[in-house]
Amino acid sequence: MTTTYAVLSEGLEKRFGAVRALRGLDLAVPEGTVCGVLGPNGAGKTTAVRLLATLLRPDAGSARVAGHDLVREPAAVRARIGVTGQDTSVDGDLTGRENLRLFARLHRVRGAAARAAELLERFGLTEAADRPASGYSGGMRRRLDLAASLVRRPDVLFLDEPTTGLDPAGRTLIGNAVRELTAAGSAVLLTTQYLEKADQLADDIVLMDRGRVAHTGSPADLKAIVGTYAEVVVADADALVPAAGVLDRLTGAEPSLDRERHAVGAVTRDPTLTLPRLVRALDAAGVPLLDASLRPPTLDEVFLRLTEPSGSGSAGAGERAA
Ligand SMILES: Nc1ncnc2c1ncn2[C@@H]1O[C@H](COP(=O)(O)OP(=O)(O)O)[C@@H](O)[C@H]1O
Ligand SMILES: [Mg+2]
Repeated sequence: MTTTYAVLSEGLEKRFGAVRALRGLDLAVPEGTVCGVLGPNGAGKTTAVRLLATLLRPDAGSARVAGHDLVREPAAVRARIGVTGQDTSVDGDLTGRENLRLFARLHRVRGAAARAAELLERFGLTEAADRPASGYSGGMRRRLDLAASLVRRPDVLFLDEPTTGLDPAGRTLIGNAVRELTAAGSAVLLTTQYLEKADQLADDIVLMDRGRVAHTGSPADLKAIVGTYAEVVVADADALVPAAGVLDRLTGAEPSLDRERHAVGAVTRDPTLTLPRLVRALDAAGVPLLDASLRPPTLDEVFLRLTEPSGSGSAGAGERAA
């Protein structure tokens, strides 16, 4: 089986003065897939997007994007990608319609007027189409920016925090656009803080931490690295500590307490920890149990565990007690 990569980077580095924003970034995004890049603030996500979209030059390393060498053939790369960034590329003096027509002409798209009208309609901008973009709300500018990057179907679309400032309807529009692009064979690389969105959209997740890839895999793979989340809810606050003691003994991980919900949770990778065993142990310890569950961790929990300062996902490390 041969995989063709829309983005393949090796050892990308970028410094800003003393700050090493990227410290050897390796990425592989197959064609027709969505790669979700997650990471705490300052991890280097925006820098990675700007580099791969030819908006910045790397200090070291190499990459092929849409079949072209990033450093030697930046114009060829630029012609095949779309990018919507944290600061939008729309011209505020022009109307929404004029912006899209301009992009269409730049990309030599036939029927620029019709394409612009179609995109305005699709992104809910028909009514505002003939007003200057400077008067658009943040969410409208984002939608116009995304529409502009879709004037011609890009082979690779880079979306840097595309859902920031968007309402749920706007997020749905982005999700639909992403699915449509990948169905047509394009790849999408998106950075996001909305982990739930990444969970739904991304084929692969890249967890970035301090300028490098800390973990990579499908959402399910990453959840499996972390293990199963055991959570119990007790009848009163006094039972929290005894329940935590039982969980600690069963999982070997330091439990985290949620005093508001009277809940205690801990991560385990022990396949022999079943729900009946958990309930029996709590019952034997006299814990007044209201609820108990074993479930995969949410992507939020994965994210917190795998990018925490104390180390990479070792069971029990750095568990936060609330
Ligand atoms: N133009 C710049 N000048 C100086 N430092 C920068 C610049 N752009 C980014 N950085 C620094 O590089 C690091 C990575 O930033 P960034 O790529 O924006 O991270 P993220 O998007 O994951 O929050 C941060 O420490 C940031 O302050
Ligand atoms: Mg950023």
